[in-house]
Amino acid sequence: PTDSKSTEDLAHEVLQALSEADSILSTEKFANVPFESLKAALDRLSARSMVAYEQIEGEEAILEPEAEEVVQHGSSEARVFEAVRKAMDGLSIQDLESTIGDKTVTKVGQGKAFKEKWIKKDGSKLVALVDSINDVTRDQLRVIKEKRTHDKKILTDLKKRKLIRLQKTLSFKFSKGPKYALELVKEETDLTAEMIASGSWKTATFKPYNFKALGADQHSGALHPLGKVRGEFRQLFFEMGFTEMPTSQYVESGFWNFDTLFVPQQHPARDLQDTFYISDPKMADRPRAESADDKKDYKAYFENVRQVHENGKYGSIGYRYPWAEEESLRLVLRTHTTSVSSAMLHKLAYEKGPDGRPPPVRYFSIDRVFRNEKVDATHLCEFHQVEGVIADYGLTLGGLMEFMSIFFGKMGLTGLKFKPAYNPYTEPSMEIFSYHEGLGKLIEIGNSGMFRPEMLEAMGLPSDLRVYGFGLSLERPTMIKYGISNIRELLGHGVDLNFVQTNPAVRLDKD
Ligand code: PHE
Repeated sequence: PTDSKSTEDLAHEVLQALSEADSILSTEKFANVPFESLKAALDRLSARSMVAYEQIEGEEAILEPEAEEVVQHGSSEARVFEAVRKAMDGLSIQDLESTIGDKTVTKVGQGKAFKEKWIKKDGSKLVALVDSINDVTRDQLRVIKEKRTHDKKILTDLKKRKLIRLQKTLSFKFSKGPKYALELVKEETDLTAEMIASGSWKTATFKPYNFKALGADQHSGALHPLGKVRGEFRQLFFEMGFTEMPTSQYVESGFWNFDTLFVPQQHPARDLQDTFYISDPKMADRPRAESADDKKDYKAYFENVRQVHENGKYGSIGYRYPWAEEESLRLVLRTHTTSVSSAMLHKLAYEKGPDGRPPPVRYFSIDRVFRNEKVDATHLCEFHQVEGVIADYGLTLGGLMEFMSIFFGKMGLTGLKFKPAYNPYTEPSMEIFSYHEGLGKLIEIGNSGMFRPEMLEAMGLPSDLRVYGFGLSLERPTMIKYGISNIRELLGHGVDLNFVQTNPAVRLDKD
């Protein structure tokens, strides 16, 4: 079969055909070769100037199913005439119908045969008026079936009778090029060491570069939309002088996730309904150094945390409840990345700047957190938190508001509103709102505050070091960016891979 022929074979056939004729129409010699295959062969030959070709737009006539019938059995009028002629002494209409075996053919054919004066009515019978007729329609259709064209007038007439339809065609006209030859010389695609060594490169023919090639589809991987928005946030943080915190540890002790953050042990966030607890192993060790060069005093810190909860310390009266070590050592899936911020700030307490005191720092992280939520269109049991921490001397609440305005301003969110809020670990605390044009209302975009002395001083940080903290979800801005209304389209097993493959790049500052 012609379609499975290789481009190479086809190219040879084209060269062969041109050895017999100067110019060839593909409709004549290569009518059955698929357009794309022939084009590939001609392109290859024309790239080597062996063949010149042009593309011709044309029109061809195609027989409708009814016309195929006519070609096979004759037109209805001819069939009626033949039936009547064969029945020597006439044919009744009923007999005509049973002879022909088709009601419509009988009816239409009769009408036309009358009009052509081939038959007439004689009493109750039909009789022939002539000895023979020309079945012009059938002859015309036979020609069209073979040549796919005919005189314009005939085509128009047959089209009107719905026997044929006209269809656009693309074909080629080709002729010998300046470098025409019967043989297709093998073209080298690479200059190899062997060719240089043997000297065969001198006579080799090299395949020219095809600068128009689109290149093969690489089936490359694709970045997840969350990953792209995360990349934008990271860039933004780096621009503002932040360094990234290590967040690869999903399991934390209650100590780091809650107690160091001055979250009391009876706080509802620590309930089973809100936090996932690990069943095996259930408990963490007490906080301790993980390596020989870790000189931090974890024991003192643990005691400070106990005291600040139980009876208060650093000028605070504490919560005044019996603090339980077992509760603190229970293992949890971290409910926020603030557990990491806490560990990083504890580490900071041991660092010395030029003045011998902990230096100002800016930290951020973007990673996964887990909460025991009821899953719905906007909630999953896990999501990603974007978190930032700024530690410096002499920071004020006004400075935090200013910073948040600059930070969100970088992604096009302006005119922020701040609402007093409550977090056990920050005072004051503020929820951050921005006006959403699409929704026509203020929406919450983040949570923030200044970490409490109960938290910072227990770590050993100086009492005049102030620390801002803020957090937001990565999913929310991503859903807004990509116009997703159900979080399950973004994260989890219901995600359509095609959506991940085809979604566009993202720029936070672009809307
Ligand atoms: N941990 C808070 C949350 O999960 C975010 C936050 C971080 C708030 C730091 C204040 C300071 O929403």
